[in-house]
Amino acid sequence: MMDRARNQHKAKQIWIAGLGITIAALTLIFVTHQSQALNYEAGRLWRILNLQSDSKVAEIGAGDGAFTVRIAEKIGSSGTMYSTELNPKQLHQIKQKATALSLKYVQVVQGAVDDTRLPPACCDAIFMRHVYHHFSQPEQMNASLLQSLQPGGQLAVVDFPPDWLLSFWEVKGAPKNRKGHGIRKEIVAKELTQAGFKVVRVIDGWEGKNYLVLVRKPN
Ligand SMILES: C[S@@+](CC[C@H](N)C(=O)[O-])C[C@H]1O[C@@H](n2cnc3c(N)ncnc32)[C@H](O)[C@@H]1O
Repeated sequence: MMDRARNQHKAKQIWIAGLGITIAALTLIFVTHQSQALNYEAGRLWRILNLQSDSKVAEIGAGDGAFTVRIAEKIGSSGTMYSTELNPKQLHQIKQKATALSLKYVQVVQGAVDDTRLPPACCDAIFMRHVYHHFSQPEQMNASLLQSLQPGGQLAVVDFPPDWLLSFWEVKGAPKNRKGHGIRKEIVAKELTQAGFKVVRVIDGWEGKNYLVLVRKPN
């Protein structure tokens, strides 16, 4: 009887250890895959924006700073990397990530819903990912983006179209013509053109169901 109980206990321990190892292995695979996907996308952004080691770049709505640090590492200390966010918690995360990697030239900026809060004409290139559809005041934000770029500077907007399955999900504060979570590339291109940008190219299938709208500030 004692032996049976001991064996059952041992089997339970082995089962729990096996489950723990499987979860840890799956987490590691997932994290590695995510990191590789971010590296790949950052590399594509680098090429599409013609970035160089001395470029002055900004990321708008950087989230936890995963792209900011990847681009900043490629630029190096002779360039400038601005990283903006609305959310103070995320501003703190970006600072932490940049400090951990000794990226002293990353300047973290608290943006506003209608203003990048970047210095005028500070940048050769600006990018944002999954941020445009959150803009509650796109007209003011686009005017501010135009002002933040040098003449001839480029802006890359990565976003995704609304999914009809999620058409009930409106982004709080966003204009009603978005019709769900996301935004159609045609609206992005039209609004940026109205703001004074010139469309350079639109890339479908950027990563998954994302597209990239690349625009340029006229000289
Ligand atoms: C879905 S998250 C995307 C985060 C990150 N870019 C990524 O790809 O993981 C959208 C982020 O945009 C930020 N955001 C929205 N409007 C913004 C604005 N006008 N200026 C700066 N950040 C903004 C939000 O605070 C939020 O963290």
